[in-house]
Amino acid sequence: MKVLVIGSGGREHAIVDALTRSPQVDKIFCAPGNAGIAQQAECVAIGETEIERLRDFAAAEGIGLTVVGPEVALAAGVVDAFRAAGLRIFGPTKTAARIESSKEFAKELMAKYGIPTAGFKAFTEYGAAREYVMARPFPAVLKYDGLAAGKGVVIAQSAEEADAALRDMLLDDKFGRGKVVVEDYLEGPEFSFMCFVSGHRVWPMVLAQDHKRAFDGDKGPNTGGMGAYSPLPFITDDDEKYALEHIMQPVADAMVAEGCPFQGVLYGGLMKTAQGIRVIEFNARFGDPETEVVLPRLKSDIVDIFCAVADGCDATLKWHDFVTLGIVLASKGYPDAYEKGHPIEGLEHVRGTVYHMGTRADGGRVVTAGGRVLFVVGHGATLAEAREKALADVALIGCDNLFHRSDIGHWALEEITVHR
Ligand code: AMP
Ligand code: GLY
Repeated sequence: MKVLVIGSGGREHAIVDALTRSPQVDKIFCAPGNAGIAQQAECVAIGETEIERLRDFAAAEGIGLTVVGPEVALAAGVVDAFRAAGLRIFGPTKTAARIESSKEFAKELMAKYGIPTAGFKAFTEYGAAREYVMARPFPAVLKYDGLAAGKGVVIAQSAEEADAALRDMLLDDKFGRGKVVVEDYLEGPEFSFMCFVSGHRVWPMVLAQDHKRAFDGDKGPNTGGMGAYSPLPFITDDDEKYALEHIMQPVADAMVAEGCPFQGVLYGGLMKTAQGIRVIEFNARFGDPETEVVLPRLKSDIVDIFCAVADGCDATLKWHDFVTLGIVLASKGYPDAYEKGHPIEGLEHVRGTVYHMGTRADGGRVVTAGGRVLFVVGHGATLAEAREKALADVALIGCDNLFHRSDIGHWALEEITVHR
């Protein structure tokens, strides 16, 4: 089978890598891909939202399966276009992808079907939003309603901060369209529960935890994610069972009931609070960087599960026991403005796995081409071993414009020990 992967980040690199392990795959294409993906797949110069060109390419090449990485392609309707042309594609339709693209849709769905999440209220008008927020305790959780690459959320500690964020989101139109969801503030460790979903069918993946803040100690601005690991010692089997039975399965069922059955990866961004497990957000796709630590642990043939989801048939998932921990190397300045084009050296010395998140080939060299640039994954029997290996590999990579966190996995490695 020929397979096409849409996207250009570390998530897509990990998907391509998993596909290379399938005996069913003859050839992998990736549109548009990056310098690392190019070593395992043929990169095609088509952008991830150029829907017609992607569809025409898949039809002309006789692609048997297309896998969508990024939310922008889903929200642009890539799945709808492929399906209309009779092409097999893994991912939700534009309507089903609203569970990610519209916070209000997700919150209303959860309210209607009794899915545990933070209380909320949606606003389009600055004055009403301000009045509501100022009458409530701080911190205030303000979420811009729309795709903002994980950066449209402000946890405001004071009235001044909240007002500035509301102005950005509702008056100045800094993000685009103005709508804000104001939520109750929740506390506890966060974790990512990704499930393959096809209508009512739900296949859970192993759990992972992302690290959203830019710097060590969970300081600095929110990012798309600076590191991840799997599995999670602080989430019990009972927690996982609860999340599956009270969150992921009912949401899959709710999407069917609402007339927009979900097909693809449903990503639950969950929090273990003192009151129980609560939903922070849903995504309609594989998480990035969670995918880069989860898919290496998949023992089953990934093509079987992609096709089972797309065709609505059965499959079983088996997982490896080893631990994975990965560290993002990001461009200095990220998540704000950063430079591109800095040469990267030493990649050939790395012993573990490196997934490319934002790189470009420039002559014979690999250069930085994004905010998040590389993702270095260590495997081990324990989390401590996986982190040691990942950090050792990070030290072998030379570039004058990258930074990384050294404390990925701290919640499991340090805090948990202290709390025991
Ligand atoms: P989101 O894009 O919705 O995942 O939000 C980004 C981050 O903001 C989350 O990973 C949480 O750390 C934080 N956050 C979002 N919603 C809440 C909430 N209701 N209470 C506390 N923290 C939150
Ligand atoms: N790592 C968080 C996300 O993919 O949205």
